[in-house]
Amino acid sequence: MKRAGESRIRGAFFIPRSGLVGIDEIDDDHQSVVDALEEVRVHLEDKAYSHVPKTREIVQTLLSHFRREEDLMRSADYPHTEAHCMHHDQTLGHIYRIVGNAELSEKVTLGDLRDLYRTLLDDIFSADLNFQNYLFATNRLRG
Ligand SMILES: [Fe+2]
Ligand SMILES: [Fe+2]
Repeated sequence: MKRAGESRIRGAFFIPRSGLVGIDEIDDDHQSVVDALEEVRVHLEDKAYSHVPKTREIVQTLLSHFRREEDLMRSADYPHTEAHCMHHDQTLGHIYRIVGNAELSEKVTLGDLRDLYRTLLDDIFSADLNFQNYLFATNRLRG
């Protein structure tokens, strides 16, 4: 039996304001990943929904986001670009494990979606926001 407010308790994925980087291309990418995670989450009980292919699409979106972010960092001469690329590669290893397991078991769980969400937030808070600091420090971004 569902308790009142349960769907609210079990969701929802979003980017907190403190996780906004301030660069439209980056923030839009993060938002589209979160929107896609949320789309799968709200369909978890829907048997007709293609959870595994949709989750694989999220991985592709993340992959192109990482490449776009790395290009932006290089073009801004960000001194920690290579370290950030390594962080992305480690993140991808984790992400591919999650989607690989989903493909093997032919199902996606709320836990899988939370894992993907956590990896995105981890990249934002432990890496992307350092790029924002650099842009502020070099007067290329204003608060
Ligand atoms: Fe990012
Ligand atoms: Fe990143």
